[in-house]
Amino acid sequence: MATYKFPHNFLWGAASAAYQVEGAWNEDGKGESIWDRFSHTSGKIDDNLTGDIACDHYHRFEEDIALMRQLGLKAYRFSIGWARVLPNGRERINPAGLDFYDRLVDALCAANVEPFLTLYHWDLPQALQDEGGWENRNTAYAFADYSALMVKRLGDRVKYWTTFNEPSVVTFDGNLSGKHAPGIQDARVAYQVAHNLMVAHGLGVQAIRNTNSKVEAGIVLNLWMADPATDSPEDIAAAETAWNSSETLFLDPIFKGHYPLAAYDLVGEDMPKIQDGDMALISQELDYVGINFYSRNLVSAAQKIDKVPGSEYTEMGWEVCAPAMRRMLVKINNAYKLPPIYITENGSAFKDEVSADGKVHDPRRLDYLKQHFIQTRLAMQDGVDIRGYMVWSLMDNFEWGHGFTKRFGLVRVDYETQKRTVKDSGDWYAEVTRTNQIHD
Ligand code: FCB
Repeated sequence: MATYKFPHNFLWGAASAAYQVEGAWNEDGKGESIWDRFSHTSGKIDDNLTGDIACDHYHRFEEDIALMRQLGLKAYRFSIGWARVLPNGRERINPAGLDFYDRLVDALCAANVEPFLTLYHWDLPQALQDEGGWENRNTAYAFADYSALMVKRLGDRVKYWTTFNEPSVVTFDGNLSGKHAPGIQDARVAYQVAHNLMVAHGLGVQAIRNTNSKVEAGIVLNLWMADPATDSPEDIAAAETAWNSSETLFLDPIFKGHYPLAAYDLVGEDMPKIQDGDMALISQELDYVGINFYSRNLVSAAQKIDKVPGSEYTEMGWEVCAPAMRRMLVKINNAYKLPPIYITENGSAFKDEVSADGKVHDPRRLDYLKQHFIQTRLAMQDGVDIRGYMVWSLMDNFEWGHGFTKRFGLVRVDYETQKRTVKDSGDWYAEVTRTNQIHD
C-alpha cells in the first residue's frame, strides 16, 4: 500500500455555484438572471426543471456550513449571484443581496472555512443580456464595477477572488451550441464573447486590486486533456489541434499575451474586434489560476472516438481517466509561466441510491476522487505548484441543462425534503482532510 502525503497547508475544499445551489431566485429583491430566463423557457432543461429552489442554500447556508465542518473543509468555493446584488447588473444595489453574502462569509470565517469566491459563474443579469450581454463590450465595464463593489464589501474577509469560471463554456455552450443560457447559436457572437470575457477578466483584476491590494486575483479555466489515440504523427497532430481549438484560446491570451495562431485559422471571418491595449490588459500577472478537470478527449485523425473500449464512464458520459490529469498539469506547466495552481473543480456524477441503512454507498465516486488526488500529488512531484483542491461538488445540485438528473455531491440532497446525507465519499473525504494523506 502506498501513502500519498500532501503539504501541511494544502487547501482542501469543495465547490459550488450560486445558480446551482441557492434557489430563492426572486426573493428579497434579486433581479432575473439569464439562467432564470433560460430555465423558465420550455424545452431548455431536462424535464423542464429550474433552479428556482435548487438546494435552498439561500435559506440553509448555516446547515450547509455545518456539513462543511463535518467534512473538515478548509475552503469553500462559491459564486456571487450578480443579479442578487445588482438586480439590473449595474448601479442600483440590492442591500438584502449584499447582506446575504456578508452573512455567508461571516459564517464561513466563524467556521474556519476559507471563502474562495467566484464573481462570475454564468448567471449574467438578464438586464445586461437585453443590452447584448457579453457580445457588448459595455458588459465588461459593468463587470469591473460589480467586482469593485464586491471587493469593497467582502475584501476584508475574502482573500481569493476569481473573476470568471470557465470562459470557454460561456463561449461555446452559451453562444455557439446554445445548450446553456443565453442559448445563442452564432459563431461570430461566440468569438466576440470569448474576447470580451477576456477583457472583462483584465478589467476585473484591475478593479479587484485597485479596491484592495491585499487580496489575490485569479481565473478558473477548465481543461480537457487531448490525448492522441496512437503514436502516429497524424493522431498526435490531431490531438494538438483539438487542444488548440479550445483550451489555448484562453490560456494563451492570459499567460502569453496573444491569441494562438491556430485559433486565428479556426475562427476565420468570425474574428472578434480587438482594441489597442486589450492584450496587455488580459495578460496581467495573476496571483493564482484555478484549473477544473473532469476528463479527456482521445483524438484520432481518422475518426471521432465516442467511447474508449474498456474505459469507465460517468453519468455525464465522460471517461474516467485520472492519469490524463497529471499529463495535462505537466503539459501546461511546461508550456506557460503559471502562478500557483488550485484545482478548483474535479468530481463525478454517478447514480446514487439510498440504501436500507439510510446511507449512500458511492464507491465509484470515492475511487474517482482517490485516483485524481493521487495523480495530482504525482504532478506536484513532477514540479507543478498546486496549492489546493476543491471537489465538485459539496452537494448534489442543479446541473445546468441536465437539471437535477446528475448528482456530483459529496453530500446527497433529497430535493423533496431538502434533507442532506453525507455519502461514503464524503466520509472518506473527511478522513483525507483530517489526515492530509491518502492510501492507495
Ligand atoms: C463545470 C461547471 C460546474 C459544474 C461541473 C460539473 O463545467 O463549472 O458548474 O456544472 O462542470
